[in-house]
Amino acid sequence: MALRALDDLGDVAGSRVFVRVDFNVPLEGGRVADDLRIRAAIPTLRELRERGAALVVASHLGRPDGEARDDLRLAPVADRLGELLEVEVMALDEVVGDGPEAVCAHIEQGDVVLLENLRFDPGEEANDVRFAGRLAELADAYVDDAFGAAHRAHASVVALPDLMRASGRPTGAGRLLQREVEVLGRLLRDPDRPYVAVLGGAKVSDKLGVLGALAERADALLIGGAMAFTLIAADGGEIGDSLAERDRFDEVRAVMHGSGDVLIELPQDVVAATEASADVRPQTVPAREIPRGLKGLDIGPRTVEEFARILADAKTILWNGPMGVFELEPFSAGTRGVAVAIAGAAAFSVVGGGDSLLAVKREGLEDSFDHLSTGGGASLEFLEGTPLPGITVLED
Ligand code: 3PG
Repeated sequence: MALRALDDLGDVAGSRVFVRVDFNVPLEGGRVADDLRIRAAIPTLRELRERGAALVVASHLGRPDGEARDDLRLAPVADRLGELLEVEVMALDEVVGDGPEAVCAHIEQGDVVLLENLRFDPGEEANDVRFAGRLAELADAYVDDAFGAAHRAHASVVALPDLMRASGRPTGAGRLLQREVEVLGRLLRDPDRPYVAVLGGAKVSDKLGVLGALAERADALLIGGAMAFTLIAADGGEIGDSLAERDRFDEVRAVMHGSGDVLIELPQDVVAATEASADVRPQTVPAREIPRGLKGLDIGPRTVEEFARILADAKTILWNGPMGVFELEPFSAGTRGVAVAIAGAAAFSVVGGGDSLLAVKREGLEDSFDHLSTGGGASLEFLEGTPLPGITVLED
């Protein structure tokens, strides 16, 4: 399957190109707190402008459930986008309708318009063809660079490109989406081995699909974060008051025992405390013998050492999810240790998921990773081998 891309759009000089991006970024005090996703779309936006297009940029932000909400307006995102692109961005306060149609009818080469939050309209999440039709009024070509939303069958991701293509208008993936598909596709189909995946985060239920898929594809799975306690408890370990999803025991046992040759490495020791607070006194205890009254909140130093030893020999590394409550200093060493070990490994390294990316950023290690994936749920579904609707629609 070939993904149509920017090179397949033909001559876009003088055209209005609708660019679906994922600017679902954290805001703090009316400003963008983390602009990774905005930066990641800049190469596509810049290239299209250099090719003479006018841009109609559109994104969702948060989950406003089909209603306008002032705290989820895209104005702060427009400010940051303008700074990064070094151009004035016209931020509209509507998604579709007479206002956007009037503006988009008169935009010229190099202009950049940012529509209001797509999810203010109920038609977006409903993949509504009529809503897509109104979006289609605004442009002559369609580009999707929103990898983070590629797993959502929403109007701007599926119905719109379908409509544009049916009416003979060019559609294709932007540079970011193209690169995500290339890199994650390589991990899915043809990773250099040994391929080591590091998984963490709070809930195993969010990651069961990818855990099962990676157990078949990777050579080693290193598991930390609270999700490890469900695996340890399902395997008979004493986890004290640590979080565990007991209703998932059968499923995790099926992964652990049905996983053939893959090495599944669980924590040997953990940093535990009575509660997740910066003021408590943590203790390092064996991961399978956590006393009652204590909960595991980070992987311990022996585990970090063991994980680092395995990572040092890897040729491909995937990391998704923190090893503990890393935002609190007493429980941050495990996540930091894993970040440093991956950054120092010679492997091709990919990190995804908001928290792991934040940890990488905090350590100033962004440049030591080969690929920072902008997808959370989308990366996980892709790595499970599930076809993503936003990608399928752009394939020939
Ligand atoms: C994300 O942040 O993972 C994407 O922007 C998708 O957001 P959603 O989970 O609200 O659909």
